[in-house]
Amino acid sequence: MLKILITGASTGIGAATALEMAENNEIFVHYNASRDEAELVAAGIRAKGGTPHLVQANLMDAAGCNSLYAQLAEVTDSLDVLVNNAGGLIERHTVKDMTWDLMERIFALNTFSTMLMTRLCVPLLEKGSNATVINMTSIAMRFGAPSATLYAASKSAIDSYTRGAARELAPQIRVNAIAPGVILTPFHERYSTAERLEAMRSNTPLGEHGESDHIASAVRFLIENTFITGETIDINGGMFMR
Ligand SMILES: NC(=O)c1ccc[n+]([C@@H]2O[C@H](COP(=O)([O-])OP(=O)(O)OC[C@H]3O[C@@H](n4cnc5c(N)ncnc54)[C@H](OP(=O)(O)O)[C@@H]3O)[C@@H](O)[C@H]2O)c1
Repeated sequence: MLKILITGASTGIGAATALEMAENNEIFVHYNASRDEAELVAAGIRAKGGTPHLVQANLMDAAGCNSLYAQLAEVTDSLDVLVNNAGGLIERHTVKDMTWDLMERIFALNTFSTMLMTRLCVPLLEKGSNATVINMTSIAMRFGAPSATLYAASKSAIDSYTRGAARELAPQIRVNAIAPGVILTPFHERYSTAERLEAMRSNTPLGEHGESDHIASAVRFLIENTFITGETIDINGGMFMR
């Protein structure tokens, strides 16, 4: 039985990952504002024979990360998998109008929370089995993303951090990342117009957007394959090819 913490597991990719990994595992379902959705995920985990624990925290600052860690450490003294998935674009902006406050908020949510949650969880992961950290970056970091430049940069930092952490924490803990392309989740209801989505779809060789399960199955792969560390897997229908 694995003990898995998934941040941002109330909706979208995090929720799909929680359900993908539910069977016979203990899943810490983190949420911030979406309590009802997190409870649905918990019910889904139970239905699949897993054990859910709901944990709430706003990961915009260190206090929120510390609170999440405290809730986790109250229930367990070891962890097998940390999925740093919580994130968001916060608001669209241009290079000319971005403010220091917006820079801080976007990096706090996407980058600093990933780094601090990892640091906090390392002692628990060191007691886990085949321990692994999986960070959620984005295709945005591959191209530069007009109107989401800060978000793209915040995800790019995670990409680099993943490789450094992978080298430092080996061999006890593997650290990998996933860079999703356009995945249909509440993220796009918040940040993308229908026109923007269609433009991205028509620029995708496989001709369609992805679903959360496309990412959840890759999380499973990274948990199960014990010879991968320091890697970022691109899953984007061919929109970005190396
Ligand atoms: N969808 C895509 O096309 C796409 C592409 C590339 C990368 N990604 C990345 O994939 C990850 C998951 O996104 P998604 O598409 O599944 O979007 P989503 O459905 O909007 O999920 C975002 C999750 O992050 C949590 N979250 C947001 N702000 C938070 C805060 N201040 N504190 C704590 N948790 C917070 C949300 O929790 P509550 O709702 O409970 O507040 C939610 O569970 C994100 O890191 C995103 O950047 C998504």
